[in-house]
Amino acid sequence: MKPDIYPRDDYGDLGRYLPDRSPIAADLGDNRNLWGAHPAALAVLAEAGTPVASEYPGSYADEFASAVATKFGVSPYHVTTGAGGTGVLDAVMRAVAPTHMRFMDPGWPAAGMLARMNGHEPVPVEWEEALDDPVRFAGPRPCIAYIANPGNPTGEAVPDDWIRAVYRHTEAVGSVLIIDEAYGEYNRSRDDLTPFEMALEGERTLCVKTLSKAYGLAGMRAGYGVGSESLVLEVDKARGPFVVSGVTSTAAAAAVSSDSPWLDETIAETTVNRERLTDRLRQRGYRVPDSAANFVFILRPDDRLEPETRRLEACGVRVRPFAGVTARGSGLRATVAPWDRMQRLLDGLDLIAARTG
Ligand SMILES: Cc1ncc(COP(=O)(O)O)c(C=O)c1O
Repeated sequence: MKPDIYPRDDYGDLGRYLPDRSPIAADLGDNRNLWGAHPAALAVLAEAGTPVASEYPGSYADEFASAVATKFGVSPYHVTTGAGGTGVLDAVMRAVAPTHMRFMDPGWPAAGMLARMNGHEPVPVEWEEALDDPVRFAGPRPCIAYIANPGNPTGEAVPDDWIRAVYRHTEAVGSVLIIDEAYGEYNRSRDDLTPFEMALEGERTLCVKTLSKAYGLAGMRAGYGVGSESLVLEVDKARGPFVVSGVTSTAAAAAVSSDSPWLDETIAETTVNRERLTDRLRQRGYRVPDSAANFVFILRPDDRLEPETRRLEACGVRVRPFAGVTARGSGLRATVAPWDRMQRLLDGLDLIAARTG
C-alpha cells in the first residue's frame, strides 16, 4: 500500500487563523499599540523609493539584526529575525526535530498551532501546577519549553527566578527553551535585560521579541530572537532567506535604535489606563487577573462569552473571547487603548449587565 502522505494526519485539527478585521469603532481585539506606530519607522516608510520595491533585501535582514545587536552590545550572530514574533517562533520550532512543546495553560493559541505546524505535540501544563514546580513544567525529556512572559490571554507575568529554574533544567536535559517577551516592554524597565542575558549565557535558549506590540508595527511584520551563535545559526537555517522585506528591516532598525520618547510615553499611558480599567472593572464586580501587558482579561463563564462578545460588537467594541480548558482561561480579552475607547468598553458592559440583570 502506498504511504498516505497528503493531507498530513497531524494537521487534522489545524485551520486558518482568522481574527475578525472588519472595521469597528473600538477594536480591542489584537493587542496592538493603539496609540499608533513608532515615528522612526514611519519616517522610513515616508521616504521609501523604488529600490526598496525593486531590489532584493539582505538575506537575513542584516540592518535590523545589526541594530538589535548594537542595542544589546553583542555580535549580529546572536540575533535572528523573522516576519513578526510569529515568524521567529515558527523558525525556532522548525529548527528542532519533531518532539513536543510544553506550555503554560491558559496560553496563546497560536503557539500551539505553530508547534503542530512543525510536527511538535502541544502539551499544556496547568498554570498553577507549572508555577509550583518549574522542573515538572519543563518535563524530564528533551522537548521545547515555551514561556510567554507576560502570558496571553491573561496578561499575568511569571517571576524571573521561576524562568531561571526552567532555564537551568532545559539547558541541562537538552531541551530548547523559548522565552517569548512579546509584551515585555509593558512588564520590564528598559534596563532590565534578564531574559536576554539568560539566552546569551545559554546554548539552547531563545528570547523572542516582536515590534508588533509596544512599537506599534504589527503591519510591518518584524520580530527578532536573541540567543547563542549556534542556536541562532540553526534558526536562520530553518527560517530561510528573504523573509523580512528591505523596508521592514530598515524601519525596524530605525525604531529599535531611536531615542524618541514615543515608546516610553505610550507605554506609560498604556500602564496608567490598564490600571484604571482594571480598577473600574473590579469595582463592577468583574474578576480581572493582574496584567503586566497592554491588555486585560475579564474572566467570564463559557456560556457568556459568545453573547457578550456579540453585544459588545453591537456597541462598537471588539474584544476577543477565549474559551479555556479551565475557568482561569475563559474570558474576554481587551486591549488597553486611549481612554475614550476604554469608556466605550465599560459603557457596553454596563448596558449588557443592565439588560441581563
Ligand atoms: C504571546 C505572543 N507572542 C508572539 C506574538 C507575535 O506577534 P507578531 O507575530 O505580530 O510579532 C503575539 C501576538 O499576538 C503574542 O500574543
